[in-house]
Amino acid sequence: MKLSSGLGPRAYGLTKKTILLIVTGSIAAYKAPELIRLLVKDGARVIPVLTKGGAQFVTPLTLQTLAEEKSYSDLFSLTDEAEMGHIKLSRIADLVVIAPASADFIAKMAYGLGDDLASTLLLANKKPVLCAPAMNPQMWAASATQDNIKSLTKRGVNWVGPVSGDVACHEDGVGRMAEPTDIFAAIKSHFTASSILKNKKVIITAGPTVEAIDPVRFMSNHSSGKQGFAIAQALALAGADVTLIHGPVCLNPSPRIKKTIAVTSALEMQKAVEAALPADIAICAAAVADWRVKQTQDNKIKKAATPPTLTMQENPDILLSLATHKKRPKLVIGFAAETEKLEKHAAAKLTRKKCDWLLANDVAKHAFGADHNQILFLQKGKKPVSWKEMSKQDVAEKLVQAITTFFK
Ligand code: PMT
Repeated sequence: MKLSSGLGPRAYGLTKKTILLIVTGSIAAYKAPELIRLLVKDGARVIPVLTKGGAQFVTPLTLQTLAEEKSYSDLFSLTDEAEMGHIKLSRIADLVVIAPASADFIAKMAYGLGDDLASTLLLANKKPVLCAPAMNPQMWAASATQDNIKSLTKRGVNWVGPVSGDVACHEDGVGRMAEPTDIFAAIKSHFTASSILKNKKVIITAGPTVEAIDPVRFMSNHSSGKQGFAIAQALALAGADVTLIHGPVCLNPSPRIKKTIAVTSALEMQKAVEAALPADIAICAAAVADWRVKQTQDNKIKKAATPPTLTMQENPDILLSLATHKKRPKLVIGFAAETEKLEKHAAAKLTRKKCDWLLANDVAKHAFGADHNQILFLQKGKKPVSWKEMSKQDVAEKLVQAITTFFK
């Protein structure tokens, strides 16, 4: 079905991109037509899917008139299934956008329910998802909603907003849907990153290394792997071919990450990194033990009158070896975990380890195991830039943006 929106000449920035736009039950649904208008004007094909709740606020006719595409809503419609089945709907999309995403719909996604067309096609979906939540601030702050957001983020869902401001129920706080122009910008940047980073080979190290003393005891550190995993996920979502090499962690890597290699010690990590070369980008977020015990004991060291003396040996510096390798990736990025004099020590590390960029974090304040991080971003030959405190996912997104700009 073709309907005329009368939008005039198009800019074609999103030409050949198909966006499945799910509109769920929130008053912010009245902004969905404006989002469709912006997307169509930029050349995108937009297929609207309206939930029962969404249809209380905006009509299928409005959406399909602006999209110039049929609007879908009924899981059991024989006509719709004959024209385009719910499985096919998710297959033809390059990106699934949910705007607005109500608290109820987010909960459905988190629990994997499939009781209507929109939730069913999301269950069957393998494409990237961008979600623009909209709800009352108390609902947004509720532990149930926040737990759902966390679990969906782990599964690779991307978010735009919500933002702070007046909501329809006259309460103030975070919960308002991002403006259509901001959602449009997030969609554009998703595709820009995807086209530039598509198939770029990236090696990422994450988590701690564990260095055995004897079969029972070991030396390690507090790294949880969250920061490195978030970066791996963000790059995989942007289309990069990611190899994630990580020490012992309690995290599940996103299925979009092409290759995941679990190692234990620094020597094993070094070997896995070497085998993963060549690559375009290397990001060393792992907290690699600087030393290992020179002589690991085959049997448990027995408790004696005097404690044993452990002789240490230096581990290979994986970051330095990548930065000086004959197959050196074009962009080598390190991290610096500091507890004092952040800028001074990080600047020295950037030079000593010969990497291009360094993300320094103060691990005395937070970082290890936390969900948030604060980065001082150093680039060779440039003034350091301080990033405000943000979630590790947002740090990952910001880094992906910087990498995208580097390769533009
Ligand atoms: O894992 P999380 O709980 O999310 O915490 C994140 C983090 C704090 C671990 C992470 O943000 C971080 O700072 N990672 C680097 C930790 C570290 O070992 O920093 P460093 O200053 O000791 O080492 C500097 C750089 O050299 C790092 O890129 C490190 O990966 C690398 N290195 C260090 C020693 C070594 N033998 N080989 C290396 O490659």
